[in-house]
Amino acid sequence: MPTTVLTNSAAWLPADRADLVVGPAEVHEPGPGELLVRNRALAVNPLDEIKQWVGPMMYRWLPTPAVLGEDVAGEVVAVGAGVERFRVGDRVVAFAVGMERGRRHRAEGGFQQLTVVREDLAAPLPAHLPYEEAVVLPLAVSTAATALYQRDHLGLPHPSAVVTPTGRTVVIWGGSTSVGSNAIQLAVASGHRVVTTASPRNHERMRELGADVVVDYRSPTAVADLVAAIADDEVAGVLAVGTGSAEPSVAIAAATGARRVALASPSVSFGSLPRRGGLSGAGVRTIARLVAGNVALQVRARTRGIRARYVWGSSLMTNEVGPMLWGEYLPAALAEGRYVCAPEAEVVGEGLEAIQPALDRLRAGVSARKLVVRL
Ligand SMILES: NC(=O)c1ccc[n+]([C@@H]2O[C@H](COP(=O)([O-])OP(=O)(O)OC[C@H]3O[C@@H](n4cnc5c(N)ncnc54)[C@H](OP(=O)(O)O)[C@@H]3O)[C@@H](O)[C@H]2O)c1
Repeated sequence: MPTTVLTNSAAWLPADRADLVVGPAEVHEPGPGELLVRNRALAVNPLDEIKQWVGPMMYRWLPTPAVLGEDVAGEVVAVGAGVERFRVGDRVVAFAVGMERGRRHRAEGGFQQLTVVREDLAAPLPAHLPYEEAVVLPLAVSTAATALYQRDHLGLPHPSAVVTPTGRTVVIWGGSTSVGSNAIQLAVASGHRVVTTASPRNHERMRELGADVVVDYRSPTAVADLVAAIADDEVAGVLAVGTGSAEPSVAIAAATGARRVALASPSVSFGSLPRRGGLSGAGVRTIARLVAGNVALQVRARTRGIRARYVWGSSLMTNEVGPMLWGEYLPAALAEGRYVCAPEAEVVGEGLEAIQPALDRLRAGVSARKLVVRL
């Protein structure tokens, strides 16, 4: 389909810290190795909500008006040169990377009707899988895979349909987060036993996803309980997800002899900052806590021989983890029903206008749910 006959609109972030505004948007041609997707479902991530809240403190290279959004599912309406895995009309789920440095920010943002995505960050959707269910995956599964498989993070063996037990355990602090729910499944598919944390209401769900042991992260004995559950097992690594997850994760690594910790979350919450420009007292205190906390964490880790590194969930697009996940593992695992789209989708509205209320709700907090907007 020629892109000239298509029209587009986007939920624009018109200026730093402003609410999203729906308005017309350009139709972008897919470049080599890219697809143009008519989005049928979108999901919101803490990243979108935090970027909107803190302005240029994050993603300072992203000019406004901007199109945020990473999680898209829909049908392919045009393909760029050299695309081999997809054709016009295919149903896909894809990781939109428009916020990343060096990308075409507006063309590749998720919060619009027509998004340009990379062929190597898209997976075909089997006929049985609705867009609304699959769209929970992209940023979460990409971040989980980056943390587990990238060589400078946990460097685990890749997931497989035929699971070969490694005899090793992976610790996932924050199993009921979107990232954690995907990490549990991937780590199990890589042959690991998984021990994790979640609120008690989500324990059964964590076991359904493959976790062997689940403890409440709010319990004062959470670290000791996980260390006891690990017993004499070799720990392949620890993934820390959720504000405040870094310290207990390094403590678990220190107690069990694990050498690698992948950190998905900053050590302080940006939610406490006021939503306005300029340097406020709260802003200075938050940054100071962030820097001091990180220095103390790194000292604790390094003196125990532990490498604790922050994960950047889109870095898989520059190495072998992206093609492994999006080109090989996910397509087959989704088609064969071996991979669950987790956390469960909750459709909170229809149309681009529903994205801002979804971000507001995400900010108020969710539990083992992904907020999804249907287009
Ligand atoms: N580095 C990256 O590239 C990257 C990418 C994506 C996300 N992240 C970060 O990863 C974190 C999770 O994101 P997400 O989208 O997966 O989150 P999410 O799905 O919105 O997380 C919701 C869940 O967080 C759990 N939770 C809340 N506080 C927690 C804590 N202190 N420790 C452990 N779990 C806690 C809650 O569990 P219960 O309901 O069971 O209490 C809730 O189910 C965020 O900090 C996000 O910014 C980083």
